[in-house]
Amino acid sequence: MAFVVTENCIKCKFTDCVDVCPVDCFHEGPNFLVIDPDECIDCTLCEPECPANAIFAEDEVPDDQQQFIALNAELSKKWPTITEVKGALPEADDWNGKANKIQYLEK
Ligand code: SF4
Ligand code: F3S
Repeated sequence: MAFVVTENCIKCKFTDCVDVCPVDCFHEGPNFLVIDPDECIDCTLCEPECPANAIFAEDEVPDDQQQFIALNAELSKKWPTITEVKGALPEADDWNGKANKIQYLEK
């Protein structure tokens, strides 16, 4: 199993999650982060750190977010590792909680 970043990270990218990951398994795209399922050790530390509540254990990903399991696996092989916290995206607070953000996912 692994942890999974889901839709509410899109256009927010707060990056608090990165700070606590002991195995550096977060990867960064233009407006979204993903977790490499082959690197994640299920330590659970990142889940409560996300201000957008975007991180779930794989077996707790909501039904309408299931496609993000494959997206984390796919995009983590393509995007570079991120190991240090950086500023959230400029309008992160406005986008936090908005629905249907997957249409804005930049790959
Ligand atoms: Fe990293 Fe632990 Fe989160 Fe997996 S559960 S992404 S190992 S902080
Ligand atoms: Fe995204 Fe939450 Fe991390 S918004 S960058 S999963 S802290």
